[in-house]
Amino acid sequence: MDHLPSRATTPAAAPRPAAGPTAPVGLDALAYGGDYNPEQWPEEVWPEDVRLMREAGVTMVSVGIFSWSLLETERGRYEFGWLDRLLDLLHEAGIRVDLGTPTVVPPAWFYREHPEALPVSREGVRYEFGGRGAICHSSPAYRAAAAGITEQLALRYADHPALALWHVHNEYGVPVSACYCEESAAHFRRWLAARHTTVKELNAAWGTPFWGQHYNRWEDIRPPRLTPTACNPAQQLDWARFTSDAMLENFRSERDILHRLAPGVPVTTNFMTALSQCESVDYWAWGREVDLVSNDHYLVAEAERNHVNLAMSADLTRSVAGGKPWLLLEHSTGAVNWQPRNLAKRPGELARNSLAHVARGSEGAMFFQWRASRYGTEKFHSAMLPHAGTDSRIWREVVALGSDLTSLAGIRDSRVVADAAVLWDWQSWWAQKLEWRPSVELDARERADAWYAAGYDRHLTLDFAHPEADLTGYPLVLVPALYLMTEAAGQNLRRYVEGGGTLVVSYFSGIVDEHDTVHAGPHPGALRDVLGLTIEEFAPLRAGQSVRLTGAAGDLTADGWAEWVVPQGAGTLWTYADGPTAGHPAVTRHALGTGSAWYVSSRLDAAGLDTVLARAAAEAGLPERELPRDVEVVERAGELGRYLFVINHTDEDAVVPLPGDGVELLTGSAVRGALDVPGNSTRVVHL
Ligand code: GLA
Repeated sequence: MDHLPSRATTPAAAPRPAAGPTAPVGLDALAYGGDYNPEQWPEEVWPEDVRLMREAGVTMVSVGIFSWSLLETERGRYEFGWLDRLLDLLHEAGIRVDLGTPTVVPPAWFYREHPEALPVSREGVRYEFGGRGAICHSSPAYRAAAAGITEQLALRYADHPALALWHVHNEYGVPVSACYCEESAAHFRRWLAARHTTVKELNAAWGTPFWGQHYNRWEDIRPPRLTPTACNPAQQLDWARFTSDAMLENFRSERDILHRLAPGVPVTTNFMTALSQCESVDYWAWGREVDLVSNDHYLVAEAERNHVNLAMSADLTRSVAGGKPWLLLEHSTGAVNWQPRNLAKRPGELARNSLAHVARGSEGAMFFQWRASRYGTEKFHSAMLPHAGTDSRIWREVVALGSDLTSLAGIRDSRVVADAAVLWDWQSWWAQKLEWRPSVELDARERADAWYAAGYDRHLTLDFAHPEADLTGYPLVLVPALYLMTEAAGQNLRRYVEGGGTLVVSYFSGIVDEHDTVHAGPHPGALRDVLGLTIEEFAPLRAGQSVRLTGAAGDLTADGWAEWVVPQGAGTLWTYADGPTAGHPAVTRHALGTGSAWYVSSRLDAAGLDTVLARAAAEAGLPERELPRDVEVVERAGELGRYLFVINHTDEDAVVPLPGDGVELLTGSAVRGALDVPGNSTRVVHL
């Protein structure tokens, strides 16, 4: 039995070389700290903050993210004194600074001058000032003002000795990503002209003969505002791409100012890769643009096994970083304040969550926020320093985590060792989510979550990869939901299988091209020859209806969806025993070149997915890891050796076999052959 991840590290994508350094400057430890908003407190509190930060082992804090109105109090009137004093104080204490450009909240005076920069909803309603993130990303006034404050900050702090990292904006994509105003419409048309060159080509790409939507002139084209019935899907898909790109233009503009005026300091912006948290940003494209990928992750507190979603977000983040180290910039010490029921974290969960991100490639663990606010909408959000003060469970766990991270400093720059890859594409997700698909049960995120969980439960460490990325080196590639696939992606998968890979594809993949146009011929157009089959007809199931699949490896259960699969070279592994497609193939396998391509045509339940995945993984040569389901094992490997993270999410103590001897870094004890991991705790073995 092999207990450990066994594959060489394989980057999921290769981002272009970043222009700045890729790690916080002057930080010779893992990053530990959080968003620090001292502007909410009298200055007398700051020294106490810094004293307690030192007690907790804080190494870096994020400041100034929401401070525009306090730094530029009227147009061109700057008040940097307080920030000067703060950075000096932090520097004296040896705490590095992740300095925000505060461009996510323009001040009230800006909207007095430019009410047109407030974004407009799809329904045509203009949002108001009073929350945050009320930004039209196409507004020239916003762009100029954001560039202005960014330039001032860079000029003032480029050489400040505390400065380690620039934190541009905050979570592009939430709470508002798209703006439907006239300025945005004009910007959209310019973007479309660059993409499609002529109106004629746009007509072809958007399929405008349908419902008489032909355009003669650019000026007739608008955003997909509220329409009486479903709006042109290709138009909506281009709008989603434009929305991500419009925000990216603004990120680039700030980044380029910072690179110009503060060369040598890396630039990041905090992503939210969890699919439940941000839908509107194409992180494959964005990952290439930052010097250091950083991410925010919040548990869905009420979800059972929410550590699986955490792992998935961390794996996605590492993958958009091309396998390189990344940084968890925000998560929570305890409850958040914006879910229906904000459950507190259980004892030990704070450390398990933090170390799970570190296991999957983060070079530290940062939180929202340092000190709990007394006012404002987030006063009931947890913090490193809670309202209860230092005589509290959270504070004690925060101090303990600081010490744990100190013990792990040696892991920096090591890489996560992955077993297999999952293909994911935000653009395909956007396309599939549009109206009038064959069944409401077709939910890309649901399948991505389910397939990821199936891999997690088998203790496989998964990278994510773009469908056109080089997949060489992955013995197994999973495709849970790729409705939209380009010809190039189809050919990429063909090469992968012919070269010896094992590919497992879920239903409703490879159906349309980049314009949401069905590939010519029978479904699945982009994958027919790879999978060795065609689909004669979709056979969606009724709500609540399930089907049984019979095969040599036992019966499986599925629901939601079925298909009339016609093998064209593929062999049948499971057959529908009942339902509309009874007697027809349900799960197939196509031998191609030196590899194989499996197809799953129905929505298998967790047990069914596990059965299919187990067989495909065995065929791909991946090891069986006999561990309790919720004992997470991840390996990072680097110049100083292999690091095995074992995170026990259960209440029971676990014993995990080891491939050799080593030192457990959190307790400092020598380990031989096996490792005891108490319930709810984490161990990290340096092998
Ligand atoms: C996001 C934001 C933070 C804060 C937290 C609360 O991640 O970036 O400013 O609002 O949510 O959970």
